[in-house]
Amino acid sequence: MTMINATETVAFLDLAAMHTPLRDELTAAWNQVLTSSAFVGGEAVAEFEKQWTDYCGTAHCVGVANGTDSLELILTALGLGPGDEVIVPANTFVATAEAVVRVGATPVFVDVDPDTLLITPEYLWSAISARTRAVIVVHLYGQVAEMDLIMAAAEAAGIHVVEDAAQAHGATYNGIRAGAFGVAGSFSFYPGKNLGALGDAGAVVTNDPVLAGQVRSLANHGRGSHLLHTAVGRNSRLDGLQAAMLRIKLGHLDGWNRHRRAVHRVYMDAFAGTDVKTLATLDGGEPVHHLEVIRVPDRDRLIAGLTERGVETGIHYAHPCHKQPGFSRFDRHRLPVAETAADHQLSLPMHPALDLRQAEAVAELVLELL
Ligand SMILES: Cc1ncc(COP(=O)(O)O)c(C=O)c1O
Repeated sequence: MTMINATETVAFLDLAAMHTPLRDELTAAWNQVLTSSAFVGGEAVAEFEKQWTDYCGTAHCVGVANGTDSLELILTALGLGPGDEVIVPANTFVATAEAVVRVGATPVFVDVDPDTLLITPEYLWSAISARTRAVIVVHLYGQVAEMDLIMAAAEAAGIHVVEDAAQAHGATYNGIRAGAFGVAGSFSFYPGKNLGALGDAGAVVTNDPVLAGQVRSLANHGRGSHLLHTAVGRNSRLDGLQAAMLRIKLGHLDGWNRHRRAVHRVYMDAFAGTDVKTLATLDGGEPVHHLEVIRVPDRDRLIAGLTERGVETGIHYAHPCHKQPGFSRFDRHRLPVAETAADHQLSLPMHPALDLRQAEAVAELVLELL
């Protein structure tokens, strides 16, 4: 049996351990940007956009300032605003819903599947009204939602599918990467993401050249050309320094995701046949395990026990979006699965530098504390 010794801490996420082996490469790329002075836009941004487009299997990529702006820019470019409804799963980070409200549209929250905690084609279908213009499908925790049926339902209803892939860099469903299914995919490169910058960053991917051009213009003060502002835009551009860091880290993404899968297998093997409820994987899905979410009867007691033994945990999320005070005016229905999950879910340590024996020890400790 592997033990966590008294002085050891098991980090929820260890960015320093991921960056230390890359320090020389990152520093050299940083120095190169410093020499070129291309701090906003420039060669590193253009090169990263090309690489990310190729990686996702889409035709276009526009680097932006973060993964909330990327959603908002997509919705704006699609012409969404007051009077329009956008369907959003209640179990997501609040940024998904924030973007809808920021453009003046109304988020319509729907429940999630009890096994995957993702939006389903059925919940999407049940929420479509005459005002629905789009759904934001969130590939939460690193798993891609059931995109074949979701795309079919959205097509039948004549609404846009926007993908929030902030937690799903490299995840696939039937061999297609997150972000490449809908009219556009939105990514966050917040440092803790599977592909993270050394600060805030984000991107929009799409196969639609017109949409890509609109997003690029909106994110750059509505520019049609340097001196001509054809729309009222904003400033949400990707920094050259962040793009240079992302280029280097992208080379490691597949390896990191493979390690996350190995960690996930350790947890799954340990929890099989126990009271710990793990996330189910859809047939055809290849998740990237951004978070290792489990559900247990007494979440708070387990967190206290783990914390006492030096194991860091997180909660994603403690309140579904419709129960967040800032969004209470959009709280229309009971959403029992999301509401129950919020009371029971916790996230265990999961990162590419996590030793498999440590994951084994964490799992053993979870079972002991239960
Ligand atoms: C599902 C989801 N959507 C959107 C975002 C927003 O990304 P950012 O923090 O880069 O604005 C995040 C980031 O935490 C996220 O997890």
